[in-house]
Amino acid sequence: MRAGDSMSEKVKLIYGSHEYSYPVVTGTENEKGVDISSLRKDSGFVTMDYGYLNTGSTKSSITFIDGEKGILRYRGYNIEDLAEKASFPETAWLLIYGELPTDEQLTAFRRLLTENALVHENLQSFFRAMPPSAHPMGILCSIMNAIGLFTPRFYDDENKADAFGLMVASLISKIRTVAAFAYKASIGEPFVYPDAEKSYCANFLNMMFSSKARNYEVDPLLVKALNALLIVHADHEQNCSTSTVRMVGSSHANLYASICAGICALWGPLHGGANQAALETLLQIQQSGIPLRDVMERAKDKKDSFKLSGFGHRVYKSYDPRAKVLKNLMQELFNHSHFSDPLLDIAFELEQLALSDEYFKERNLYPNVDFYSGILYRAMGIPANMLTVMFAIGRLPGWIAHWKEMHDDPSSKINRPRQIYTGPAERAWIPLNNR
Ligand code: ACO
Repeated sequence: MRAGDSMSEKVKLIYGSHEYSYPVVTGTENEKGVDISSLRKDSGFVTMDYGYLNTGSTKSSITFIDGEKGILRYRGYNIEDLAEKASFPETAWLLIYGELPTDEQLTAFRRLLTENALVHENLQSFFRAMPPSAHPMGILCSIMNAIGLFTPRFYDDENKADAFGLMVASLISKIRTVAAFAYKASIGEPFVYPDAEKSYCANFLNMMFSSKARNYEVDPLLVKALNALLIVHADHEQNCSTSTVRMVGSSHANLYASICAGICALWGPLHGGANQAALETLLQIQQSGIPLRDVMERAKDKKDSFKLSGFGHRVYKSYDPRAKVLKNLMQELFNHSHFSDPLLDIAFELEQLALSDEYFKERNLYPNVDFYSGILYRAMGIPANMLTVMFAIGRLPGWIAHWKEMHDDPSSKINRPRQIYTGPAERAWIPLNNR
């Protein structure tokens, strides 16, 4: 029996004198689900699961997470190994196509990334039309959608393997150019075009920070850090933005439209936007000198909407393995180079306070991927409002992999949850003069 097949094991549901039974679905790592898809037909009941705390929306062979043990694997490979040994393009290939690329496949993929790094020149007017104060996530989403309009043949050809491969490489390559152009537009500098001689990450840093007015040497330590950052963000199974991509894609909306919906979902401060919020909290602490204990008290106060961004996770109930990778990377970067940052000590101290605090311990609130990523990006010179854009560049291969998995599955259906209606019962129309 294959992982994910329904087993002869059943779960029984008893309501009054009726008994219903539903098949158990077991995953590769022995995680169990109950397939209740026929429950409404059998009994008239729908299941209620606010915020999908306990809903498996699909079977998936892309990413495995064990939130209790702090395990994260892409296609079976541990995140720690990938972050240390793989390149981001290699990881993207692994997520999308299921296996590590051969030498030949990786060379061809890198060539496609290089050849498709430019965005259409007409898009320059889009960047210029945006107000300089526009949030880069808004710009990213608008322009990624617009890019689709410049290559409409992809909408029709996405079922053909070659066209899909080209579309994927084009998206992964162009998102980095769009992000760098959005930044340059926001600071009023001319765009720096992609350089065919540079690797994926070095090219991005060069487009962000070089200019005719100053020399910019891409630092290999920062390239290594950026590569690992993008890898740890590359997928995280059915999170809010990925579920959004799948939801939108389930109506057979094209890949560009589905990705843009994912970018919008990622923007929120409870999801990808938490990295900006976490960094801003550290900056405020540094600038105002507010005692860390006061920050902790605010985070615990139920009357205060403030939360300690970068802590807590829906799935991880122990240390987020991605935060561990980033913490190690950060220590390596700051201990063995000229980089330094006063926020580092504040972050370490805040983490220690949280890990020993009863409120945080009881609720299993540990640092998540967003807690340390901001400090690493700061070392590169990337400003706080670009952090969620960086997350989106990293997450793009995961979104594409999930869209493809759903698209290739002939049994997938349009996603359409049910509800329990709690509004008024039927009532008679009231003419305007009687209201
Ligand atoms: N600071 C203070 N209290 C918190 C925090 C936090 N960061 N996170 C959770 N809590 C508290 C909640 O208030 C709640 O308390 P209660 O049981 O007394 O009501 C309890 O811990 C459980 O939290 P929920 O919000 O119910 O957990 P949920 O799984 O719905 O939310 C989430 C998870 C959104 C990540 C939450 O922990 C949070 O808001 N964290 C801060 C934002 C953040 O860092 N988001 C990034 C997540 S990683 C990612 O998306 C890439």
